[in-house]
Amino acid sequence: MDITKVNEIKSKIHYEVGRTEPPEGFPKFHDIPKGRYTSQEFYDLEQKHVFSDSWVVAGREDQIPNVGDFFTFKKLGEPMLLIRGKDGLIRCFYNTCQHRGAPVVRDEAGSSKRLRCQYHSWSYDITDGSLVAVPDEHDFVDFDRTQRCLPKVSCETFEGFIFVNKNPNAEPLLTSLGTAAEMLKPLDNLSLKEVYRESIVIPCNWKVTAEAFLEVYHFKHIHSNKEGWATLDSRRAAMGLYAGGHSRMITGYSDQHVNLTGMQAWDDWKPLDNGDFKTMESTSQEYLDMLDCTSTAVSYFPNTIIPLGSFGYPVLLFWPINIETTLLEWWYYGPADWEGDAIPEHWQKRAKQFDQIMDEDKYNMAPMWESLKSPALSGVPINYQERRIWHLHEEIDRKIGYQNIPNELLMDQVLEPHLER
Ligand code: FES
Ligand SMILES: [Fe+2]
Repeated sequence: MDITKVNEIKSKIHYEVGRTEPPEGFPKFHDIPKGRYTSQEFYDLEQKHVFSDSWVVAGREDQIPNVGDFFTFKKLGEPMLLIRGKDGLIRCFYNTCQHRGAPVVRDEAGSSKRLRCQYHSWSYDITDGSLVAVPDEHDFVDFDRTQRCLPKVSCETFEGFIFVNKNPNAEPLLTSLGTAAEMLKPLDNLSLKEVYRESIVIPCNWKVTAEAFLEVYHFKHIHSNKEGWATLDSRRAAMGLYAGGHSRMITGYSDQHVNLTGMQAWDDWKPLDNGDFKTMESTSQEYLDMLDCTSTAVSYFPNTIIPLGSFGYPVLLFWPINIETTLLEWWYYGPADWEGDAIPEHWQKRAKQFDQIMDEDKYNMAPMWESLKSPALSGVPINYQERRIWHLHEEIDRKIGYQNIPNELLMDQVLEPHLER
């Protein structure tokens, strides 16, 4: 993302500020059928076709820096383990012993030269999952070790993130991320260090939860401060829809916030004084300036949203637990400019501010879920500013397959001509 691209985004925002209606030719949306949130059948289809065939973030590479380091992962239903092999690469296996099904590792994280099941000590290789030791092997008639390897889960890394995909024949991660990869690429993500992790369980469908982070239409109504103004101006938002259901949104600051920052106007993008925070390394100063002077976020289909900043970022993950329960996690990363586990004071302050915003969003969700389910709401009308939500739903349908979806729950596929390439 160089200066040309950054300037392109700036002029897109200028266009958004000036328009008085959606751009010519922009489609009229039908209501999103409510059953897409409330029908168990639809939820089951999402589990089967979306979460079983999409790349999702399981963790960060620096969680397992050394050969044999592992952590377990259960967010996709079946227990899995991620481990760094002897070749230095990270792989994912189902954490299910191929003898009688005990978990191979029981600790949430650790380090091991071999994956030894505690029940009868069958042992697996940390690099390829092959079965390397079986006590009293001669007592299994016609035993073939090669048929009893730990089953693999597709696993790839990108910019320090470890992604997994339950589809053993998944398309390569970078192909799947496509253009959306460009949002992280200019940044030196590998040098970041975890600041803190937080999570909450919300009684709400996972899409209702995630959708709160796909638009800024709500921003000033929910996130205004005591003086009655919000940091962002939702009319100053340039959205980009990418193939694969990914998207991004870049939103300019409100005039009140511009006054506090040392900017002359919302479009005066330049390095800001971020006090004690260390700026990330980047291949593009213009990109960092944009991150400083806007709210910029990228969304990776289906359940990852990263609000990017010049001095690090939180990673938001939305995990469906059941149709009306979502685990929302956020992991914050910043340039490693401190030693040890104690988080420096400026980061503690930042964490508090960010958790406050998350609280304001959370406050809305449980009551919203209750009232959304009421027969009083027939469908969900979506406006131009909320088009990233529609884009998410379109991709869900493409993943599930139109023929598998009940007619009354189908979305029109209309945004293809509006994708950014
Ligand atoms: S169940 Fe793992 S060795 Fe028996
Ligand atoms: Fe919000």
